[in-house]
Amino acid sequence: MWWQEAVVYQIYPRSFQDSNGDGIGDLNGIRQRLDYLQRLGVDVLWLSPVYQSPNDDNGYDISDYERIMADFGTMADFDALLAEAHARGLKIVMDLVVNHTSDEHRWFAESRSSRNNPYRDYYIWRDPVNGGLPNDWESSFSGSAWSYDEGTQQYYLHMFSKKQPDLNWRNPAMRQDIYTMMTWWLDKGIDGFRMDVINFISKPEDFSVPGAHGSQDQVHQYLEEMNQQVLSHYDIMTVGETPGVTPEGALRFAGFDTHELNMVFQFAHMGIDLDPEYGRWKPRAWHLSDLKAIMSRWQTALNGQAWNSLYWNNHDQPRVVSRFGNDTPEYRVRSAKMLGAVLHYQQGTPYIYQGEELGMTNAANFTSLADYRDIETLNAYQELVVDQEEITPADMLTAMHKNSRDNSRTPMQWDDSANAGFTSTGVTPWIGLNDRYPEINAAAALADPDSVFYFYQEMNRLRREYPIITYGDYTLLAPEDEAVWTYERRDHGQRLCLTANFTDQTVNRAEAAAPEGGRLLQSNYADDAGEALRPYEVKVYLQE
Ligand code: GLC
Ligand code: CA
Repeated sequence: MWWQEAVVYQIYPRSFQDSNGDGIGDLNGIRQRLDYLQRLGVDVLWLSPVYQSPNDDNGYDISDYERIMADFGTMADFDALLAEAHARGLKIVMDLVVNHTSDEHRWFAESRSSRNNPYRDYYIWRDPVNGGLPNDWESSFSGSAWSYDEGTQQYYLHMFSKKQPDLNWRNPAMRQDIYTMMTWWLDKGIDGFRMDVINFISKPEDFSVPGAHGSQDQVHQYLEEMNQQVLSHYDIMTVGETPGVTPEGALRFAGFDTHELNMVFQFAHMGIDLDPEYGRWKPRAWHLSDLKAIMSRWQTALNGQAWNSLYWNNHDQPRVVSRFGNDTPEYRVRSAKMLGAVLHYQQGTPYIYQGEELGMTNAANFTSLADYRDIETLNAYQELVVDQEEITPADMLTAMHKNSRDNSRTPMQWDDSANAGFTSTGVTPWIGLNDRYPEINAAAALADPDSVFYFYQEMNRLRREYPIITYGDYTLLAPEDEAVWTYERRDHGQRLCLTANFTDQTVNRAEAAAPEGGRLLQSNYADDAGEALRPYEVKVYLQE
């Protein structure tokens, strides 16, 4: 299928390119940068939400699914972007946020207006229990998942902010409205959907499961129905964001013979450096053996039965070069390439998040709370530092430096001019720039044959040439090794072997030397040192 062979590039429109000097990225800005994206050699652009929104959560709170956010432009701008992307052979996948809407969506305004309103049941309303909260569910953005509505004297559920009320998927009329909206977009010619927290859409009937965020059985009925009524009528790709999903769960959501989605985003590998209780806000040391074990398990469990998505970064994660690599000037480029190769040579569809192809880093220059914009970060600070005093301000800032979602939301770094070419000189961007932009930017990368950009471009080119990169079986070698990740891929008598050094020391591994008849397909050093793997060295050999 085309989506198995594609490389997807995620755009966070707010931070990609401002075209009209208001400090906010927009659709016309994306259109201006299509040359760059084509040059990188990606196939699909996934746009984070561009719909009308009051921006409590940067567009993940939608108030009208069939309008474009004024900050981003107009529907005519969208149509022009879609047409031009298609003319260049680029596909466009939209973010579909249907676990919740904005509280400013017309449906919610109706719903909260009275208990008898026909839209009441589009959302999840519950009576108080013993004069208080219906249950102990917590919002992912801190505090209770329930907010009380004075007007109608009931609580509504919101798994995210109180401005993101959860839709009630038990309601068939609501589901039909969603399907109609999806059909409207697909008839425009878009090429698929990335479905936001799609495994959250069903909730246990009696709400008895404490803190249950995960998949409930009914989610599969809803997705089968959606597939049958909408998705199956189009040649599109779908990827579900499914926090907490296991490989077994993924076989159901995205099995080749189930009729739901094409792939899911799993989160297990994104949890290895987080605290079991405090998550992002208490970072912990991670071990390469854990990272390898998790990702390798996904490789083998899905092989032949379902399809993996491959990602290190997105708008909710810190920058991978700062996280699993080394973002010092000495090793940034080397380790960014190594990480790219480790990911892209696995079986699945790779996703590149804007700036990853430049080796963009976390925003170490954000030094006070005032630099941050993300609702999750700001709410956590209020709760954990101010209200409950469980984390000191200094520790929290350290955690924010490592893990805040804003690390990936700083403006795209296009060149070394003031504002990095993201917006005009003299304009204040909606969020501060990463101060390393004079060194790390697209113009510099394009001028340097050894840049991360060209390494990614080369991976994209090789993927087209060698189907083994897309389809080959995966086997992990030396699972215990805490310094080196070695794996092989096999397909139709071919063998591909990757070795990657995750440390800043030279180490020796037999598998790093050229195998019998092997040809070096890609590496991040100019020469081959045999068994010696230099700091952050990655090598990919092909035996045909
Ligand atoms: C998803 C999005 C995230 C958003 C949340 C609520 O996890 O990726 O950015 O805040 O859903 O919509
Ligand atoms: Ca703008």
